[in-house]
Amino acid sequence: MLYLKPEFVTSILLSYNDTMLKGKNILIGITGGIAAYKICTLIRLYKKSGANVRVVVTPNALNFVTKLTLQSLSQNEVFSDCFEINDYKPEHIALTESDIFIIAPASANTIGKLANGICDNLLLSTACAFKKPILIVPAMNTNMWENPFVQDNLEKLKNCGFHILEPDSGFLACGTNGTGRMREPDEIYDKSVEILTKNNFLSGKKILITAGGTKEKIDPVRYITNASSGKMGIALARNAQQMGAEVTLVSTFNADGDFENIVTPTAQEMETTVKSKLNEVDCVIMAAAVSDFRVKEYSSQKIKKTSSDTMTLELVKNPDILKEISDLKTNTKIIGFCAESENLIENAKEKIKAKGCDFLIANDISRKDIGFNSDENEVYILDKALNIKKLDKDTKNNIAKRILEEIFE
Ligand code: CTP
Repeated sequence: MLYLKPEFVTSILLSYNDTMLKGKNILIGITGGIAAYKICTLIRLYKKSGANVRVVVTPNALNFVTKLTLQSLSQNEVFSDCFEINDYKPEHIALTESDIFIIAPASANTIGKLANGICDNLLLSTACAFKKPILIVPAMNTNMWENPFVQDNLEKLKNCGFHILEPDSGFLACGTNGTGRMREPDEIYDKSVEILTKNNFLSGKKILITAGGTKEKIDPVRYITNASSGKMGIALARNAQQMGAEVTLVSTFNADGDFENIVTPTAQEMETTVKSKLNEVDCVIMAAAVSDFRVKEYSSQKIKKTSSDTMTLELVKNPDILKEISDLKTNTKIIGFCAESENLIENAKEKIKAKGCDFLIANDISRKDIGFNSDENEVYILDKALNIKKLDKDTKNNIAKRILEEIFE
């Protein structure tokens, strides 16, 4: 672990010249904690690399560091409450036009409010409206850090895609030794560069993702569907968009996000849409649970009960979208998913051979803790040569990130 000693600050400042930060808009949020003084060095690191830095503080932060210091270092006005309107846009909305929001030091109080959508100061309102990556850098006393509510709140934030740079262990300002010391400015800087790099990783790529269980209509009120929630597809769409891709989500339901959303409830509608876009995109990810069959004859009137105790629905096979688009052998990268309740790896190997896609993401739907309808997943990624990589159990959000990293490596 590298600690920044004052005598090294100047030499580090001189070596921090990442061109990728040139012209980037960095928003720093400071909350009330003694580590606030270290943010002065952090601001200098960003300024040195050509970034534009804006700072928003909670009222308590100004007990630890002055507005004048932050203003002089950032060469920008420092914002501290919602009522200093100098522009036509409310400040918390104007501030969201930044590439990354770094909240450091993040107090237990601010972490708790962030995790519960509370917006009672400018920093929190800004975070609530912020769509780009947010990096939380906690700093607090060890007992506070270990408090289960604080840990639950951090977990909640992690699951929602916030980046957390966990504190170090060492001598704390309160005179004790333990976990809770804010990471050093150079570590915060490096982490933000890493996030921004990954954030741009799919820039210029067009990706089509399918999501949800198809609904095969029987009559105007009934349909055949399955237990897929569409969460994995949405997590892929959000992450691909955040990594810079132009995303089209073809889903069986309406989905909110900064991407194009085309709703195709049935397998046939999904097939038409996916095929029509195939040559326009760099990659298709078939995360949807497509029904293998549909009813042979849709009844335009509601089917009435009869005196018979049984009823027979005749089903016909749906198109296998994944296989059909793989068979077309276009330049588009094709990724399939594979839901299995037994013999996961053997079945997945057979499936990638049968479908002919470039990668197959296999998950075990027999487990209650992962897969269908769960917020977590554990998957195996297979490629055409049958190489297998396991992604250990994690939130669907993190699994989505790692899948995108693996397939576009
Ligand atoms: N898939 C598809 N069209 C279908 C059925 C499945 O495009 N008619 C795609 C899914 O989107 C997924 C992959 O094929 O990416 C595997 O789906 P899965 O349900 O695991 O397998 P099936 O092909 O349906 O085979 P089986 O039900 O026998 O396991």
